[in-house]
Amino acid sequence: MITEAENVADYVPFYYLFTLLPILFVITTPAAAGSFVTATGNAITGSSSNLLQNQYIVYRVHQIDMPYGQFGSRSSAFNLEPLTPNQLSDFFLRKCALFKWKDLFQKSFHDIFVRKILQESLVSGVLIIYDNIINKSVTMDELKRWQTIEKRLLTNETLLPIYFIQENDDINRLYDELMESAENDNDNQRTFGSKTTKSGAEIIRQKIFSDSYQFVVNGPQVSIINNPIVTSFQTKLIGAGIEDQMPTYVIVTHYDSYSMIPALTNGADSNASGVIIFLELMRLFSKLYSNIKTRPKANLMFLLSGGGKLNYFGTKKWLDDSFDPSRSSNVDSLLDNVQFAICLDSLADSMNENGLFMYISKPPKPGTPTLTFWNNLQEISSDYPQINTTLIHKKINLAEDYLYWEHERFSLKRISAFTLTSLSTSKIIQRRTMIDLGQPNEQQRLNQMENYINIIGEALAHQLYGPIKENLLSGEYSVSRTFIQSISRQLQNVPRTQNLLLTTQKDTQNYQLPSLLKTIQMMMKKYSDGNVRTLHYKVDGKNPEFIFYEPNETRLFIYK
Ligand SMILES: *[C@@H]1O[C@H](CO)[C@@H](O)[C@H](O)[C@H]1NC(C)=O
Ligand SMILES: *[C@@H]1O[C@H](CO)[C@@H](O)[C@H](O)[C@H]1NC(C)=O
Ligand SMILES: *[C@@H]1O[C@H](CO)[C@@H](O)[C@H](O)[C@H]1NC(C)=O
Ligand SMILES: *[C@@H]1O[C@H](CO)[C@@H](O)[C@H](O)[C@H]1NC(C)=O
Ligand SMILES: *[C@@H]1O[C@H](CO)[C@@H](O)[C@H](O)[C@H]1NC(C)=O
Repeated sequence: MITEAENVADYVPFYYLFTLLPILFVITTPAAAGSFVTATGNAITGSSSNLLQNQYIVYRVHQIDMPYGQFGSRSSAFNLEPLTPNQLSDFFLRKCALFKWKDLFQKSFHDIFVRKILQESLVSGVLIIYDNIINKSVTMDELKRWQTIEKRLLTNETLLPIYFIQENDDINRLYDELMESAENDNDNQRTFGSKTTKSGAEIIRQKIFSDSYQFVVNGPQVSIINNPIVTSFQTKLIGAGIEDQMPTYVIVTHYDSYSMIPALTNGADSNASGVIIFLELMRLFSKLYSNIKTRPKANLMFLLSGGGKLNYFGTKKWLDDSFDPSRSSNVDSLLDNVQFAICLDSLADSMNENGLFMYISKPPKPGTPTLTFWNNLQEISSDYPQINTTLIHKKINLAEDYLYWEHERFSLKRISAFTLTSLSTSKIIQRRTMIDLGQPNEQQRLNQMENYINIIGEALAHQLYGPIKENLLSGEYSVSRTFIQSISRQLQNVPRTQNLLLTTQKDTQNYQLPSLLKTIQMMMKKYSDGNVRTLHYKVDGKNPEFIFYEPNETRLFIYK
């Protein structure tokens, strides 16, 4: 067992030290943007025939409030002239810095972005040209560099509106043109022997009267998503015996993902590996339970929760409900006999570490079911010498407002629990990155997931049936490659951030689930006894556990 030190630096409290606030705020309001249009009306409307294409979809960097802070970009509208990184030396009000995403992996551009945009806020808006680099080989250094930017935007706020745009010929041409003209400007300055850089005002004056572009995002203005509803699903397989006299094991995972750009979060995470493994375990064990000869003398409960990336909101609500004595009708007697809960998180080996890590808040005591499970897990994984199976002790820090792993929700209620994952660190950033270094080869990825299902499934079978000699998950009960592949494909084409997967309430009884959740609900019905509890949770009215904002995407107009 190894013990992981605190990751305090992962989420640090921030300060509202934003000295530029008043100026920037004025500039990003539509009123100010409007007056700017009027002032330079000719430059913009006079040459409307020079429009490239009129409008483009742009994706806004996330914006969310949690009880422990506000994160992401706090504004949406702007009306600004674009500027390339090689021009970023002075203070540029009314400019929009234009970056290429892949450049931000390089030290020079990365440093400019961190210092001049994130620290000094020299501009009034940012547009990042998003090119498909998921399949490009990214070095570890490059990944770490990018993650410092992601981390800054995931763990702190900025008043700048920041957008991503999918690369296209127009925007690439415009970028090249601007880069080139900036190079020429620099050359001219050098030729005339001018050592001083131009003042911001001078450059702005010069730019206003020259032929320039204007980037306009008219809105909508940032607004709160009211009364969000997060849905979770629960079902159970009942063992052979009297239901509430048998031990119960709980399998838990969450379906949502998270990244800096909610609308682009498909494929950019560990591809719902938790959900895939969860559903496959459910399929296999429901088969074993359906036959009286193979039905064990223990119950298996499955909880697929929402809001996992919101400090495990769905699991928290579920536990609160199940333990709330005032709601005795809801109390699930099964919870009394819970031996432990297995939480599944990021099991696609996206960091290529070939590990199966079991995170736990307290080292398991001798004679406990958790220790038995760990011993079984070790024994079974010894058949997979390439997989590093390690127990990691990570204490819960009660002084912090957020939890690193889902099992900590159970630990706080004094229920034994642990998380199984392929991530060797608790750092939250690794579960929120837009970049997936994971196995680009689908077959290899599925192989690895199959290994994990076999190891976890066998260890669980040992728990349910006692010591068994042969592999249980074989023959009729073997892992189905077709099944995990088809779920994997269904999940990876839908963005799965929770704000895009909210349930809407039609009236007191009727709820409208997003289509992905309907599919998941159907599968859970199919691979259980058909009894799936669909649980809708609302945020606390007075102290909301989270606040989402709109818009997630909008239109950018480019004028010349
Ligand atoms: C958070 O952002 C503010 C500006 O909004 C900045 O002053 C502060 O240094 C940032 N904190 C961290 C830890 O990056
Ligand atoms: C990566 O992307 C490029 C262009 O987008 C494509 O030509 C290439 O086939 C892709 N490579 C892989 C391994 O998918
Ligand atoms: C962004 O949010 C709107 C509604 O808030 C939704 O209709 C739209 O589908 C979302 N965008 C994406 C890419 O999901
Ligand atoms: C297994 O992973 C742990 C945690 O990252 C690491 O400390 C250990 O060295 C690894 N063991 C092997 C044999 O690679
Ligand atoms: C996730 O899915 C995308 C799109 O199919 C793929 O390119 C990527 O490699 C996958 N990542 C992982 C870790 O499975």
